[in-house]
Amino acid sequence: MKSNPEKNNYCQSLLDRMTLEEKIGQMVQFNENWKLDFEKTIRAGGVGSLLTMRDPHNINKFQRIAVEESRLGIPLLIGNDVIHGYRTTFPIPLALAGTWDTQLVEEIARESMREAVACGTTWTFTPMVDISRDPRWGRIAESGGEDPYLNSQMARAWTRGIQSYHDANGRCAAACVKHYAAYGAAESGKDYNSVDMSERRLREEYLPPYRAAVEAGVKTVMTSFNDLNGTPATANKFLLQQVLRREWGFEGLVISDFDAIGELVHHGFARDLKEAALRSILAGVDIDMMGYAYPLHLADLVHEGKVPEALIDASVLRILGLKYDLGLFDHPYIDESAVHDTLLTPAALDLAEKAAAESIVLLKNEGDLLPLPHTPLKVALIGPMAEERASLLGCWYFNGHTDEVETLAEALEHNLPAGSTLIVEPGCSLGGNDLDLAAITAAASQADLVLLAIGEHFSLSGEAHSRAHLDLPGRQPELVRAVAASGKPVVGLLFTGRPLTIPELVDSVSALLLPYHGGNRAAQAVCDVLFGVVNPAAKLTTSFPRCEGQVPVYYAHKSTGRPIDSEGIIQFDEVNRSNYLDETNDPLFPFGFGLSYAKFEYSDLNLSSAAVKPDGTLTVSTQITNTGKVAGSEIAQLYIRDLAALVTRPVKQLKGYRKVTLQPGESCRVEFTLSPADLSFLDEEFQPIIEPGSMRVWIGPNSQEGLMGSFEIVA
Ligand code: BGC
Repeated sequence: MKSNPEKNNYCQSLLDRMTLEEKIGQMVQFNENWKLDFEKTIRAGGVGSLLTMRDPHNINKFQRIAVEESRLGIPLLIGNDVIHGYRTTFPIPLALAGTWDTQLVEEIARESMREAVACGTTWTFTPMVDISRDPRWGRIAESGGEDPYLNSQMARAWTRGIQSYHDANGRCAAACVKHYAAYGAAESGKDYNSVDMSERRLREEYLPPYRAAVEAGVKTVMTSFNDLNGTPATANKFLLQQVLRREWGFEGLVISDFDAIGELVHHGFARDLKEAALRSILAGVDIDMMGYAYPLHLADLVHEGKVPEALIDASVLRILGLKYDLGLFDHPYIDESAVHDTLLTPAALDLAEKAAAESIVLLKNEGDLLPLPHTPLKVALIGPMAEERASLLGCWYFNGHTDEVETLAEALEHNLPAGSTLIVEPGCSLGGNDLDLAAITAAASQADLVLLAIGEHFSLSGEAHSRAHLDLPGRQPELVRAVAASGKPVVGLLFTGRPLTIPELVDSVSALLLPYHGGNRAAQAVCDVLFGVVNPAAKLTTSFPRCEGQVPVYYAHKSTGRPIDSEGIIQFDEVNRSNYLDETNDPLFPFGFGLSYAKFEYSDLNLSSAAVKPDGTLTVSTQITNTGKVAGSEIAQLYIRDLAALVTRPVKQLKGYRKVTLQPGESCRVEFTLSPADLSFLDEEFQPIIEPGSMRVWIGPNSQEGLMGSFEIVA
């Protein structure tokens, strides 16, 4: 490894030899769709990085042009969206977050990079850590859910996993935290929509996960499409200079989202592309992704004296520095002959199966219908997910091949106990207007048990795929009714990219599993859970609304002056409270919820003290006992509430969690330490403060249940 002074000298001496056009070329990212002559532009040093390149042969071809035919031979960065796997596809990030297992996520990130780096990726636009509380927004599938604490844990895990991978030649890739900032708060859940939020909410709830990635050493940051309080994020000096550079000390490079600089014109924030380029460079955006603003206008802006060349130099040094750090100057090419053996290895597929099984949430299990017995069964697999392949992969399957995915029907064939029979009946399509009631009824009537495989097509979630209706698409609600009418025990299998409004489904089934879109091994993972080979332990990271009108529904809301469950003297009657006339305030399933085939009892909550000083720590612990008949794992969650503060606080805030595995009858003590940072909040100047006063604390299985204790913060 070359030392830092060596790196600085290397990059500076390269910069000294660059023309202005070559410098600006480094600030341009494009792919083969470019309207200008692509190869000629690479040869002229007019492009510094490429986007969405899957073919290793092509990558080497373009890299050769850059390295061997351009004047200075500067290698290209190859940026790809390796969001939940490269060729081996893992569950969508929303599902992975539900494992609450940062080690597993780190391992998946590393494994994804093993495949991606072998195929030429040197930069991945992961992790996406936008707090997502609106299931209408299709990109909730890519996120870690609604909570700042959990998203911050995931942000660190993804960043560490991606950036710790190195192949035998030292080749590696940079991570890119996105979409900075607050993209997940898009008004009315419509993608790309405006965000208007207080600085307090931004700093307390939305910024922490990006910051966590920065603290974990993420090398790059992507700006978001949305405007924030009137200023588009891609030209937002508050976000890019004040917060990111000055407050967080970020030294890496900043890239726009896809043509987000050009979109400043559509925002009505810039008159034309040239002004868009000016505003973005002055705000601090180093690379124009897939746009024409920098390539067409940056040079003129420098010549006209509107952009100091020093600003361009600083951006270029960051870009060259990243290429240096990634070892691209020493190893620009990939070994095409090694690619094949790197992809879809048995070890990667095993990891995909483990991840898929561990991200399945058990939402209901009446009468312990699950796990299924290992005796011959007559099973009807009914529903449009029965024979789906693509929709098991999920919305950002990058280089996954649908023919490498086993369907649920295929997996059941070799997982059902010997002597079983399997009837397969899709019944309707995932989103169409077709429904074969007779076939559904016939299939159900022949079976002892129905597996109801329903959900969303993968294309209903992800970018630009928002929904105003959150029920089961197409005629699936009728299918559910028809199956329920059969009177047979029904196990629902809900494959989805977002929380859905499914109270009727929940009432219609005896058991319900949520496998989301689980990747290559989703079908086998469902079988693992159905037959108890894996005992489910995942917990929801987003609340499930009962109906669209509740959205956004999230656990860490404020109390309001008229909460429905208020204590003490109240001057208003039952009616005039913060609630709905026609629906409860409670979600269908709360954040943190998930069952197990084991049964866990929480007892004996203990606080190390009834009072804590502002600079002190407090230990909170509880006993957890597995009172069930099988071994299982439980994710115990710690929440706090500050009862009265200078600024109103959420009714609950997650501050920690632990996963424990217990044999039947076994107990353990789970202990958490609350630090001053956990007890602090931001004062009126947004500085951390700890106020004396009364606090509550809970340890429990989800955000609604748990054992409660109280303590005081004393001066
Ligand atoms: C998305 C980003 C993605 C980029 C590059 C954009 O449309 O918003 O998440 O990284 O495209 O593919």
